[in-house]
Amino acid sequence: MLKKTATVMTIVTGSLMAGAGCNNPGPQKDASADSVKTTPVQVQPYGEVDGKPVSQYTLANQHGMVVKLINYGGIITDIITPDKEGKPGNVVLSYDSLAGYRQKGNPYFGTLVGRYANRIAKATFKIDSAEYKLAANNNGNSLHGGLKGFDKALWQVTPLPGDSSLLLEYTSPDGEEGYPGTLQAKVIYTLTADNALKIEYVATTDKPTPINLTQHTYFNLSAGKEPTILNHVLQLDAPSFTPVDAQLIPTGKIEPVKGTPMDFTTAKPVGQDIANVTGGYDHNYVFDKAEMKVRGSLYDPSTGRVMTFSTSEPGVQFYTGNFLDGKLQHTRNGAVYGKNAGLCLEAQHFPDSPNQPAFPNVILKPGEKYTQTTIYQFGVK
Ligand code: GLA
Repeated sequence: MLKKTATVMTIVTGSLMAGAGCNNPGPQKDASADSVKTTPVQVQPYGEVDGKPVSQYTLANQHGMVVKLINYGGIITDIITPDKEGKPGNVVLSYDSLAGYRQKGNPYFGTLVGRYANRIAKATFKIDSAEYKLAANNNGNSLHGGLKGFDKALWQVTPLPGDSSLLLEYTSPDGEEGYPGTLQAKVIYTLTADNALKIEYVATTDKPTPINLTQHTYFNLSAGKEPTILNHVLQLDAPSFTPVDAQLIPTGKIEPVKGTPMDFTTAKPVGQDIANVTGGYDHNYVFDKAEMKVRGSLYDPSTGRVMTFSTSEPGVQFYTGNFLDGKLQHTRNGAVYGKNAGLCLEAQHFPDSPNQPAFPNVILKPGEKYTQTTIYQFGVK
């Protein structure tokens, strides 16, 4: 068993470092390879879905950082990090039980999202001359993989040697949610010794299919001290963004952020210009090119917590929780999650890319490997 998982780890890591595949060519700098671990992975029962057990897995490092996740949706339920006084707190929006994550309208708290994160216009796309139809679950468009996306799948979880990493695997059958091809997805969550949560993705297919995987955690670095993220200070190394229509579908243009409320190239409070952005921030920011690099940072002045964000992806959806309305049930400690209670930095390819020939390619073909690495690293200042 151990030998087998060790082999899987080698294969997966090897393929990531090689950068093979349609999305992220070139060598990657691993900022957090040093993942020494002292506490064994803990596993707790977390309820059932369709008669199958759901478990919660806990990773902990020697610096007081803890990450908890469940096999349902690959959901991160907890990221516990110390504030500047050393007091630990959970910096993600979360529920008190599986019922919260299963409730209708759960806005993807902590989930892995696939097969195609974000929107596909009119819930349809073509590959060559074949047209594919998806569930129109968002104003006539497809959002986050459809009615039962990867966020609602039961992933197979295998702790990897060293106790710092969990391998999650899900095979999406041919035709699932309207997508062509059997897609084999693997995600490795690693808690490193230097307080980073590293997320590595690999996927292969047996027919050409669009793919765009992401992680949909909502961060509030104050861990309950601040009801919104409007005072968080964000810096994002993105010189441009993809403007959208009223339904949040890209117009196809890529525009500079300079001189607009969209500009986070220099750090500023999230709330500073938000009133001048219709609906709040819910936009795909575009990096100069897709390469593994630190792309931004988030700072909460109330607790001193800082999070840096690195990704190999060409873009990130910066979403300020605009649709949160305080109505979610089963929230952790009865918290009321109103508008802007948390923010997401969803590493991704651009929304609606299957219908936008000018955007970077998202069609994965048989024999190719989709890869992504994204790192959220925590500290204080
Ligand atoms: C993404 C989208 C938002 C919203 C949330 C989920 O971040 O961009 O518009 O749909 O997911 O509520």
